[in-house]
Amino acid sequence: MDAIDLNVISDDRGSLITIEKYLNIPFAIRRIYYIFGTKEDVSRGYHAHRDLQQLIICVAGSCRMTLDDGVKPVNHILDRPNKAVLVRNLVWREMHDFSEDCVLMVVASEVYDERDYIRDHSEFLRLIRNAQHS
Ligand code: TYD
Repeated sequence: MDAIDLNVISDDRGSLITIEKYLNIPFAIRRIYYIFGTKEDVSRGYHAHRDLQQLIICVAGSCRMTLDDGVKPVNHILDRPNKAVLVRNLVWREMHDFSEDCVLMVVASEVYDERDYIRDHSEFLRLIRNAQHS
């Protein structure tokens, strides 16, 4: 769950950021989705993934992500389009404090598969403990 500073290509017209397989992400992109129009005081996430890896970027507005790999939860404030977090598998994520204009873009290593979700926090802790001891 590394924070990544994405390279900004700027000229006198403005700025551009590229996300490209193996250039700045360690996986091939199979899906992109974005979360927007999040209502006031709503939090999202509350799950981990068995295999999925994701690169998450707040392309507009801001939000706070809590990432927990079972060792120590870390807060990331995502408030600029060149800050990304790489979220590997078996990381519990929660998103809080969405600004009204927040557009949270997620670049994912796999297509959508509900079977990859771990939505039960105690199951997540059990899987993490097993992974740490294997
Ligand atoms: P969910 O992953 O639970 O959202 P969040 O983690 O942000 O709270 O997804 C919300 C709904 O959207 C859920 O019914 C599944 C559906 N969904 C898809 O159909 N395809 C997708 O790629 C994603 C991410 C979600």
